[in-house]
Amino acid sequence: MEKIRPKIEAFIFDLDGVLTDTAEFHFQSWKRLCEEEKIPFNREINEKLRGVSRKKSLEIILGDTKVSQEKFAEMMERKNTYYRESIKNISKRDLFPGAEKVLQEVKKGGFKLALGSSSKNARPVIEGLGIRDYFEVIADGNSVEKAKPAPDLFLYAAEKMGVSPEKCVVVEDAEAGIEAALKAGMYVVGIGPPERVRQSHVYFSETSELSVEKVLQSF
Ligand code: BG6
Ligand code: MG
Repeated sequence: MEKIRPKIEAFIFDLDGVLTDTAEFHFQSWKRLCEEEKIPFNREINEKLRGVSRKKSLEIILGDTKVSQEKFAEMMERKNTYYRESIKNISKRDLFPGAEKVLQEVKKGGFKLALGSSSKNARPVIEGLGIRDYFEVIADGNSVEKAKPAPDLFLYAAEKMGVSPEKCVVVEDAEAGIEAALKAGMYVVGIGPPERVRQSHVYFSETSELSVEKVLQSF
C-alpha cells in the first residue's frame, strides 16, 4: 500500500555543495594542510569528508597516524585559517545557478525555511552570499553536539521552526547528511551523482535542476 505522506510545511537546506561550491574550498584547504604535513590526500579521500565535521574529517585524513592532542588542534585550526581565507571574498556570484531561485520559491510557497549545515563557518558564508535573510532558523556546526550522520542538527532545525520532522524536506549533497535526515524521519532530496545520493527519496544532478514543484510532485 502506498505510504501516505503528511503535508510538507518546511524546507531545510544544507549549505556546502548545495547552495554554493564551498565543498571545493574545504577540499583545497585540507589539501594545503596535507601537503605541508606530507600526509596523503586526494579527491577520493575528500569524498569521505563531504558533510562531515572538521574534527571527524581530520580523524579520517589521519587514519592510523597518531598525533598529539595539541598537534591535532593546531592542524584543525590551520585548515580553518586557510578555509576562512578562501571564503573572505565570497559573494552572490558564488551561489550555484538556481540556488537563489529555489529559496525564493520556498518562501513564495509559504514554507518555513532553515539552514542545516555542519559548518561552524556557515553564518559568514550565507552573509557573503547575500542569502542570510531567507532563513528563519540557522542550524550550524555550533548548534548541536552530535554532527551528521546523527539526526540532531535537522531535529534541532525542525524544533526551532516549530514543525514536526515528518513535515520537513531536507536538501543534501552528502551521504552523511542524507543519513542524518533519514534518521530524523524527514523527506530527503539529494543533489549530486546517483552513486553518492541514491539513499535519498528523490535526487537531482545539480541544484539548478531542483524546484519546489518537482519536489512536491515526487511524493
Ligand atoms: C560541512 C562540509 O558543511 O561542514 C564539510 O561539507 C566540513 O566538508 C564541515 O568539514 C565543517 O565545516 P567547518 O567550517 O566547521 O570546518
Ligand atoms: Mg553539503
